[in-house]
Parts: sequence; C-alpha cells; structure tokens
Amino acid sequence: MPEPITQTAYWNGDVGTRWADMQAELDRVFSPLTAALIDGADLRPGERVLDIGCGCGETALLAASRTGPDGAVAAVDVSRPMLARARTRPAAGAAVTWIEADAQTHPFAPEHDIALSRFGVMFFEESRAAFANIRRALRPGGRVAVLCWRSLAENAWVTVPRDAVLTVLPEPAPSPPGGPGPFRFADGDALVDLLRQAGFASAAVARVDRLLEIGADQEEATRFSATVGPIAGLLREVEDPALRERALAALRQAMPAERPVRLGGACWLATAVNPG
Ligand SMILES: C[S@@+](CC[C@H](N)C(=O)[O-])C[C@H]1O[C@@H](n2cnc3c(N)ncnc32)[C@H](O)[C@@H]1O
Repeated sequence: MPEPITQTAYWNGDVGTRWADMQAELDRVFSPLTAALIDGADLRPGERVLDIGCGCGETALLAASRTGPDGAVAAVDVSRPMLARARTRPAAGAAVTWIEADAQTHPFAPEHDIALSRFGVMFFEESRAAFANIRRALRPGGRVAVLCWRSLAENAWVTVPRDAVLTVLPEPAPSPPGGPGPFRFADGDALVDLLRQAGFASAAVARVDRLLEIGADQEEATRFSATVGPIAGLLREVEDPALRERALAALRQAMPAERPVRLGGACWLATAVNPG
C-alpha cells in the first residue's frame, strides 16, 4: 500500500493551486456560510484574531475589516500557493500577518481573543492535540468559532454531482473513520466532545443551512463541481479520458436547470471558550 499523502503535501500540490485559481469563485459560492461564521464570531473592534487554515484569506480579510485598525489578525496555513494568493489581496482595517505553519503544533503566543476557521480544522492528523494547541493560542476567556461541513448526505451541493458521476465511475473506498477530510466532523456531538477533551468550556454546535449558488447555469455549475471539492477529487483519479468525459456528461445532466444553479450546503458552527 502506498503511504497516504500528508495534508501539507496535499494542499501544496495541484489541489492548493486549484483553490488559489478559484479563490474568487469559491468565496462567492461560500459567501452565505462565511457570513454565518463572521456573524457567529461576533468580532469586536481591537480584537486579536487567529484564522486557522486561512487558505486564500477571505475570512482573515473580513476579520481585519471587522476588528479595525486597533485589531490584529494572524492567518495561518500550510499551503504556499493559497497563502501566495492571500498576500496579493487588498486588506483594510487590522494588520494581517500571513504565517506558513502547521496550526496543529505551531507555538502561537497565548494572546488571541478568538480563533476562527472556515473549513480549515477538518484536515488535522491529530485533532485533539491540534484543538488543544489552538486553545493555548487564546487568552483566558478567548473563544473559538469554526465552520465545518455536516454529513455528506446533508450536503446536496456534493451529493447531486456525486450521485451523477457514480452512475459512471466506481464507488470510491470509504475514507478511514476519524481521518482528515471535509466530512471529518459530520457528527456534531463528537466535535463537541473533542473540543471538551482539548480543554475548552461551553462547547456547542449550531446548524447552518444555506443555499449555495454554484454557478450561473448548468455549464458553470459543472465546471465548479469538477474543479474543486469532493467531486473534483473523484474525477482526478480517472485515468481514462473517455470515462472522464462520460462522468462529466452525467454531472452536467444532473445539474438543476434553474438559473442560477443553487444547491444546499449544511454546516456546523462550533463555538467554545478557553476557560484559562
Ligand atoms: C478546505 S480549505 C479552506 C481554506 C479557507 N479557510 C477557505 O475557506 O477558503 C482547508 C485549508 O486548511 C489548510 N490546512 C490543512 N491542514 C492544516 C494545518 N495542519 N495547519 C494549517 N492549515 C492547514 C489547507 O492548506 C487549506 O488551506
């Protein structure tokens, strides 16, 4: 069996480059979910914010604008292509420091008022130790607010294209339970337990359900699904170009005909406090 690829290698390869190239589109598609995270984080002027797995920087830049010139944002990620994209984007408000580091182990100063993340905490190899490290980056009373996907079955923006391509492609082997991946925290109770084990108090999850506009029409929605996210991962594995074309045709056909194409996204907004 080949060694599984590390997350650092994964997000520094083709996937990281695609996310960087698709930054504007991804941020547009996820914007209703992002708004729920930023509202739930309840950022105040002057706060020091840590963005975990900041990627191309959308939530760090929004946090900078909310916390203003007296605030500070530290944004950490392992992906060089995504950080490179983030660094090109205009920032307003708080100063943003982009840090290339592993959030699981990086020795952050214990000074942050809040750690937040949009889809950056599901890829840890050691989740409990990683959340404990994030807690140590917070001052006593500091809070955490992270957005994670709920189950695959609840996320139509993934199941609709997935069911379509699986009429042509073989079903992939299930990911090992508890391993890194987008649906790692589908079980909200387990996520709450994990936050408690990492030393957080008042851990809770709230459902966030939003329609995601994944394209102006079927063509755009197909391109989006085939370029980033779980379906792009399935298509990437297909070596036979004819088979890949058939899978893409099935995907295009399954996209709703309404314009724009909207499919449901289902997340947890997990919050907790560092008791100090
Ligand atoms: C699904 S992307 C989300 C990126 C960004 N937050 C967004 O919403 O566009 C997951 C991000 O987590 C980052 N990541 C994964 N493991 C990490 C780790 N151990 N430390 C820091 N970043 C990590 C990846 O490089 C990637 O940028």
